[in-house]
Amino acid sequence: MSSNDTLSLSLYKKGYLSPSMPSGVDLVQAILRLKKEKNAIILAHYYQIDAIQAIADIVGDSLQLAQRAAQTDADIILMSGVRFMAETAKVLNPSKKVILPDLKAGCSLADACPADRFKVFLQKHPDHYVVSYINCTAEIKALSDVICTSSNALKIIESIPKDRPILFAPDKNLGRYLIKTSGRDMLLWDGACIVHETFSLEKILALQKKYPQAQFIAHPESEEHILAIADFIGSTAKLIDYVKNHSSKMFIVATEAGILYQMKKEAPQKEVIPAPILEDKGFGCHCSICHYMKMNTMEKLYACLKHESPEIILDPKIQAKALLPLQRMLQVAG
Ligand code: 13P
Ligand code: SF4
Repeated sequence: MSSNDTLSLSLYKKGYLSPSMPSGVDLVQAILRLKKEKNAIILAHYYQIDAIQAIADIVGDSLQLAQRAAQTDADIILMSGVRFMAETAKVLNPSKKVILPDLKAGCSLADACPADRFKVFLQKHPDHYVVSYINCTAEIKALSDVICTSSNALKIIESIPKDRPILFAPDKNLGRYLIKTSGRDMLLWDGACIVHETFSLEKILALQKKYPQAQFIAHPESEEHILAIADFIGSTAKLIDYVKNHSSKMFIVATEAGILYQMKKEAPQKEVIPAPILEDKGFGCHCSICHYMKMNTMEKLYACLKHESPEIILDPKIQAKALLPLQRMLQVAG
């Protein structure tokens, strides 16, 4: 049995493959075959469903996905993530065809920062250096001086001359955290991630009481009162590294639950518990789920590769202008 067959079979047994396909095993094989035929690469974020993470060429955080998209010599980049990630890939590697399984896979942070309102805000603060979190549209990137992700944000802020005022958008929670860690004052845009604003402090404290040996770790998009009790704060990739390398055997994890797949894969001897949320959203777990990230399915991946669609097409002027702030990010902290 080939390694692809073994992978297909294990995914099929776990029930990840669609019964609507003639055979679940064929779906995995078909995706892998199309990928090879078309010289495509599949880049997936840690919040994707387990089956997608299992077949992706690269699974990573926003920075790693941007770096891999910029470097690849594949003809097609299939971004299994959300739209801002696919747009970033297109800006960084414009000669490639970039496809996204579902164009509706958005992000509440990107939605919270429409370009027309942002332009007015910038006009009021023309002396500010504009740092935008990568979770924004290409249009917002084009209006920014530099981009950052949650894994390099502190380094980016520290690289800005001390006498230059900073405007940070669109995530106020990450912004507040950066003000605290960098000691720099910053003007913040009022955006937030709906997935990281659902954690229940009360329930997390109760879990900590039940498991005093557990480390509580959180993504910096979480609210201030959640970050205040965290033993460690980091991007998705850094949270995974922490679980792998820390001596504790148990971790309570405040970020999107898709990350648990990779944590269990990379640190199978550790116990990882998703941080509980305020109210049950009917996802079948009491954890936080990004419904945008979960719009990508194995069926959509297959159709997307087969038809090379939906494709990311950007306004050429916006695409060109968004490149410089992204390149600056990669030069400073790539
Ligand atoms: P990371 O860059 O840490 O993977 O974050 C992406 C994201 O969307 C978090 O909500
Ligand atoms: Fe956007 Fe939050 Fe989903 Fe990340 S988890 S893609 S920040 S809505």
